[in-house]
Amino acid sequence: MSMIVRRLSRAATAGLVAAAALTAAAHSAEAADTLGSAAAGQGRYFGTAVAASHLGESDYAATLDREFSSVTPENEMKWDATEPSRGSFTFTSADRIVDHAQSQGMDVRGHTLVWHSQLPSWVSPLGAQDLRTAMNAHINGLMGHYKGEIHSWDVVNEAFQDGGSGARRSSPFQDKLGDGFIEEAFRTARAADPAAKLCYNDYNTDGVNAKSNAVYDMVKDFKSRGVPIDCVGFQSHFNSNSPVPSDYRHNLQRFADLGVDVQITELDIEGSGSAQAADYTKVVEACLAVSRCTGMTVWGVTDKYSWRSGGTPLLFDGDYNEKPAYGAVLSALGGSGGPGDPGDPGDPGDGASCTATYTRTADWSSGYNGQVTITAGAEPISSWTATVTLPAQQSVSSLWNGTPTWSGNVMTVRPSWNGTLAAGASTSFGFTAAKNGSDAAPTVGTCTAS
Ligand code: G3I
Repeated sequence: MSMIVRRLSRAATAGLVAAAALTAAAHSAEAADTLGSAAAGQGRYFGTAVAASHLGESDYAATLDREFSSVTPENEMKWDATEPSRGSFTFTSADRIVDHAQSQGMDVRGHTLVWHSQLPSWVSPLGAQDLRTAMNAHINGLMGHYKGEIHSWDVVNEAFQDGGSGARRSSPFQDKLGDGFIEEAFRTARAADPAAKLCYNDYNTDGVNAKSNAVYDMVKDFKSRGVPIDCVGFQSHFNSNSPVPSDYRHNLQRFADLGVDVQITELDIEGSGSAQAADYTKVVEACLAVSRCTGMTVWGVTDKYSWRSGGTPLLFDGDYNEKPAYGAVLSALGGSGGPGDPGDPGDPGDGASCTATYTRTADWSSGYNGQVTITAGAEPISSWTATVTLPAQQSVSSLWNGTPTWSGNVMTVRPSWNGTLAAGASTSFGFTAAKNGSDAAPTVGTCTAS
């Protein structure tokens, strides 16, 4: 009885939430200054994996709520989490994520119904008929609970082997039910929630290779026989051993040409700085170039909680600062207001400021030493720029603790090693000037900081 009440109330809420999501997207498309709103401007969603256990962390929730328009529970909808003992479903953690997403007008991707990993121990020993019954009951139990509330379900996850064979992966389902288990799972899923998009999801299928060819052949076969499949998920876990493939866009397109949507479902790219940013740009551009690429999901909000945290593969660092990759994604999505832009709510450099003051520290008949002291304002800074205009006759013979560039008699000085300053902290650079007949003091212009 309580299950029925819960189902009805979830379904009723979903209608209201869908309306709220449309309003939020329409509103934020005008500003286009978050990942979600910029993606909405391109007709796409931009999502993230979420862990229920982090939702209570205010910076985590604030970043999630500000930036993303879709969530995927990272572990909470998996079989071990939802049906730890046969027929006994627990949705507490998954409900927490779905409720949070709905309160923010976000879509939810369901991950995942049938997977060889994170299976509770009772599943593997079952005989073939029993396993078939259990698989269908699991699909019905999960999809029934969230009926009408899930944008796309990863119905079957990672059913193909890595490597060159293109064979199916050994698993209880494959080994006992044969190739037909995938088709059966999709048919059961369609009946359980006809409104949900049904996806096949896998990794190392991002470029054209034996594994993606095998998935391609399966999808083609499903489409030709009317087996219900709507989308293919490309996990897109990249690093130096598995870089963004050069035929990524082509591969997405060939699947789309089969008549399915494609989605980037678990994107992360190990690395940092501009190289990581450039790789993220490639992925976003590939998705935007394929009209049936309906959205992208990164596999976590912050580097510190990533399954590959050592590889810092995400868009926000451990302190929720936007990384260069964030700016690259936002820009590729056509958004504005990334790192460094005034008013960007996630930019820790906003409000960065400095002042520059000049003193003469030594003086002799033909020359002098000058010192310019740079002091950070109320926020820490990572760099500064100061201009010094010298009287026309004077020339500078040496400069220390700074890097000058010249335009006429104006020198623009940037840090050499001393760019980073805590709020209110100071550093200085010095120089030796020849007077050449003028003893006038140089003029120090505006100090700018980032
Ligand atoms: O929650 C427990 C904690 O109580 C316990 O102390 C700790 C000790 O190991 O484990 C914690 O659970 C871990 C869980 O993540 C939550 O952090 C599991 O051990 C760990 O195995 C699990 O890893 C997840 C992994 O799937 C399991 O296969 C990752 O978070 C999750 O990001 C990862 O996601 C997969 C996708 O589902 C499918 N595609 C690949 C992707 C990355 O591996």
